[in-house]
Amino acid sequence: MSTLIFLFLDRAMVIFYSAEVKPLRGREGQTVTLHTGLAKLQSDAKIFLLFGPVRPEIFIVESQAFRGEIITEYKGRFQGRLQLDRETGSLTVRNLTINDTGLYQLQIINEQVTYHNFIFTVYASVPTPNIRNTPHNPSVNSRLVSGSCSVVCSVANGKEVTLSWYRGEEKLNNTSSPHQADLSLPLEIKGKNSDTYSCVATNPVSNQTTILSIEEHCLQHKKQTPLPFRN
Ligand SMILES: *[C@@H]1O[C@H](CO)[C@@H](O)[C@H](O)[C@H]1NC(C)=O
Ligand SMILES: *[C@@H]1O[C@H](CO)[C@@H](O)[C@H](O)[C@H]1NC(C)=O
Ligand SMILES: *[C@@H]1O[C@H](CO)[C@@H](O)[C@H](O)[C@H]1NC(C)=O
Ligand SMILES: *[C@@H]1O[C@H](CO)[C@@H](O)[C@H](O)[C@H]1NC(C)=O
Ligand SMILES: *[C@@H]1O[C@H](CO)[C@@H](O)[C@H](O)[C@H]1NC(C)=O
Repeated sequence: MSTLIFLFLDRAMVIFYSAEVKPLRGREGQTVTLHTGLAKLQSDAKIFLLFGPVRPEIFIVESQAFRGEIITEYKGRFQGRLQLDRETGSLTVRNLTINDTGLYQLQIINEQVTYHNFIFTVYASVPTPNIRNTPHNPSVNSRLVSGSCSVVCSVANGKEVTLSWYRGEEKLNNTSSPHQADLSLPLEIKGKNSDTYSCVATNPVSNQTTILSIEEHCLQHKKQTPLPFRN
């Protein structure tokens, strides 16, 4: 018996028949395997794999016995990047691109038909965040004390990117928004301190850290060098 499942993925409605959908994540360039969890398939099982960004509709693998010989065809833009393991039905996808994001349905046909569905999301590696000084407001300049700084960290936005400020291990603040081209998060440091501040960009598959340079961004006590003694 199969269950009717409704899923919402990027606002499009997806309908297909299955008891289970496995979510999977990957990073651009990586290799992943869609595991069926099956141990040993009948050697003459027919195996089909369908893919689609919204619903599984394009055949990308067709593997079946033809006059006693197994013929496996890989199709479309996945060609050269797919490897089907006919023992288990598991499928390996190499050199992922973000366009491999979508729904995959594996159909294994022996006496009966079994479906294995995967929602697979491929993310780009998150870029390195950038720290710069917030433009000075001259009226408050005079009140700034040694070690103070007013900076903003920013990064190009992407799928599920979060930008955070840390002081040591402690998270101070964070921001994320699906609808902006860039994410930015200000930080205000008041007074001198020896903590390490870092700005971290993360997505579900990667992260990048930029350490705040106190020398570069914060006001320093300039040691007064004594004037040269003159006769
Ligand atoms: C992997 O993908 C990159 C970029 O899409 C491409 O330049 C490279 O040739 C691919 N490598 C293989 C082994 O397909
Ligand atoms: C993904 O698809 C878009 C639109 O079809 C195309 O412009 C882009 O080059 C593709 N990117 C990769 C990494 O294949
Ligand atoms: C966190 O960042 C937001 C947005 O810049 C800011 O409004 C808020 O005051 C910050 N919170 C803390 C605890 O710094
Ligand atoms: C991080 O952001 C979430 C959601 O906006 C918020 O609930 C949480 O308090 C933030 N954490 C810190 C340490 O600012
Ligand atoms: C960043 O990624 C590394 C592995 O690459 C992981 O060990 C670490 O916990 C991640 N840090 C954060 C803040 O997500």
